[in-house]
Amino acid sequence: MSSAKEPVAVIGAGLMGSGIAQVFATGGWPVALQDVSAEALERAVEGIHRNLAFLVERGLGNEEAVESALARISITTDLQEAAGGAAFVVECVFEDMSLKQEVFRTLDACCPPETVLATNTSVMSITAIASRAERRERIVGTHFWNPPYLIPLVEVVRAAETTPETMDRTVAILRAAGKHPVRVEKDVPGFVANRLQHALWREAISIVERGIADAATVDECIRYGFGLRLPVLAPMENADMVGLDLTLSIHDYILPHLEASPEPSPLLRQKVETGDLGFKTGRGFQEWTAEQAQASRDRLLAYLVGVIAGKEGENDRAG
Ligand SMILES: NC(=O)c1ccc[n+]([C@@H]2O[C@H](COP(=O)([O-])OP(=O)(O)OC[C@H]3O[C@@H](n4cnc5c(N)ncnc54)[C@H](O)[C@@H]3O)[C@@H](O)[C@H]2O)c1
Repeated sequence: MSSAKEPVAVIGAGLMGSGIAQVFATGGWPVALQDVSAEALERAVEGIHRNLAFLVERGLGNEEAVESALARISITTDLQEAAGGAAFVVECVFEDMSLKQEVFRTLDACCPPETVLATNTSVMSITAIASRAERRERIVGTHFWNPPYLIPLVEVVRAAETTPETMDRTVAILRAAGKHPVRVEKDVPGFVANRLQHALWREAISIVERGIADAATVDECIRYGFGLRLPVLAPMENADMVGLDLTLSIHDYILPHLEASPEPSPLLRQKVETGDLGFKTGRGFQEWTAEQAQASRDRLLAYLVGVIAGKEGENDRAG
């Protein structure tokens, strides 16, 4: 699939769908982007243009490559037109089970039997999303992260009936598109990365709730401490590095003291009930002016672009 650059279709042109269309179009695939809303399609193309221009400003890519990528994207409100000739389809509609089930039933009926059908659901069961389709063996999860054109990871999730061939073809096309696909062998809530992420968030919120440290301090402990080494030394390698004997004795001591509640934190619930929702209301765990909120978003983008530019520089030096 990867060598011939067979057509890709992206269903749903919101935040994720537009970013995923951008990934494939930049990589040289013809992309059909579909949405029920013509307005959403227009916004998506504008957004992709803005993202690509931003990358050029930061030294990634050039005007000519932007024009070629945009020229590879076609837009339509007709699902069959978008997906009927595609070799790989990524669904990115609203996170709604019956909507997704219906989209997959239709995709299954209108795509050739060899087309791989992927869902970008963040949390829902892929096995359930596939349940109204007939050829469920070609349905797979591809969990991209936001922004999909900057975050390399895509979790490729095996649903109950996904075949090894579907997993392999999905991994191959994502790798060819410059992503970092990983195989998740069980269709479980949170897949791998959100389970890890929210285990950390649960403890972070619990520390604030128990008055051990305030929210800013919790983040400082990560940003200036173990967060710095995470990109090069993550927990499984770190455990081997310090020794499993030491890891066992630390866990013997500390695990009984860590948050283990199966419910969201009462502090989190209370903040939501009082309308303290974070950046969008000016107050969450901390206070935020509009300028501070924007600075935080800008910092993240600048950081991610810097990481990608660094990696491209490494590849250039290696190649
Ligand atoms: N936002 C994130 O950070 C993120 C991260 C990973 C995965 N996801 C998942 O990606 C999917 C899309 O999320 P998003 O944030 O891009 O949502 P979004 O609200 O930005 O976009 C969804 C789009 O789907 C379109 N749509 C609705 N029904 C449709 C249909 N029947 N056919 C075609 N298009 C339809 C809408 O018009 C809208 O443009 C969801 O499953 C979400 O859980 C989101």
